[in-house]
Amino acid sequence: MDVKVVLGERSYDVVIDGGGPAAVAPRIAALGARRAVIVTDDVVGPLWAGVVRDALVRCNVATVVVTFPHGEVNKTLATWSALVEQIVAAGVDRSTVIVAVGGGVVGDVAGFAAASVLRGLPFVQVPTTVLAMVDSSVGGKTAVNLPTGKNLVGAFYQPSLVFAGLASLATLPARELVAGLAEVVKTALIADESLLRLLERDADRLRLGDPEALAPVIARCVAIKAAIVARDERETGDRIWLNLGHTVGHGLEVAAGYGTLLHGEAVALGTLAELRWASARGWSTNADLAPRVARLVARLGLPTSVPPIDLFAVEAAMRLDKKAAGATIRVPVVISVGHMTVVPVPIDSLREMLTS
Ligand code: GLY
Repeated sequence: MDVKVVLGERSYDVVIDGGGPAAVAPRIAALGARRAVIVTDDVVGPLWAGVVRDALVRCNVATVVVTFPHGEVNKTLATWSALVEQIVAAGVDRSTVIVAVGGGVVGDVAGFAAASVLRGLPFVQVPTTVLAMVDSSVGGKTAVNLPTGKNLVGAFYQPSLVFAGLASLATLPARELVAGLAEVVKTALIADESLLRLLERDADRLRLGDPEALAPVIARCVAIKAAIVARDERETGDRIWLNLGHTVGHGLEVAAGYGTLLHGEAVALGTLAELRWASARGWSTNADLAPRVARLVARLGLPTSVPPIDLFAVEAAMRLDKKAAGATIRVPVVISVGHMTVVPVPIDSLREMLTS
């Protein structure tokens, strides 16, 4: 199944394919590529980079593989710097395609490298996690973290193609698979009551990674995200909705220490905290929504209570949110499922979001 992200001359397809990542090769060759650099990490690389490289070579695309250490803790300027040096050393020209094979961290770092080397090389995302398939690979956000905050350095840089080979989810560790489902819940909340009901119906199968349950859910999330990005590429409007759960979530992720809570786990906790906070202030028209989502999140195997953590550190991290504008932060709020608003929250009252 193909979903189009419609952005004028930067439009591209998101292909959702039942096979593995290697099936991307003819599509990359069809883009006119003759050389490629696969960027991956030391966990995904041994599983999938070799087969993608071999498939590209069979399609007459000369390909090298560049690998960096896995994990959010390595989504740094130092990793980006080493990566761009290796890409340049591989002998690239402006037609060389950068192919990100991996999860959200790989896609974000590889994308920022693609945006930077020679001021921009063609870029293909081959997401291998649920999180990357439903969220981070689509829409052109690329970035690295700073010790003080998530994704504080980066660029909007759209890929030429996204290829989600669902067979790669079979090798995904259970904790990573479940963490990605937090972005799925977020997507349902911002856009689609019927998707939320589907998640409730299939929660047990989704938690176990059943491909037949995952495929339609991933396809629906991609379609929702593609539509939002098409109408607001650079987050001046509705795209901010996709940050539901991320104001608190990023704060928790940074304060816990990158990699302690997985991004999706922090987003699940952040979504619950933000739903309760919005409900306590009467913004949500549905008082049952927060408990309903808590039940779903628990059934999906995601955490529902914040681990022991210094709330001052969480608040400090939240203050550095990219959505800050002067003394306020713009926070997306669910009025009811599929109906969103954005509330300016004074930075000095952010703590209330952690204690509602
Ligand atoms: N992950 C949120 C966005 O792409 O806008």
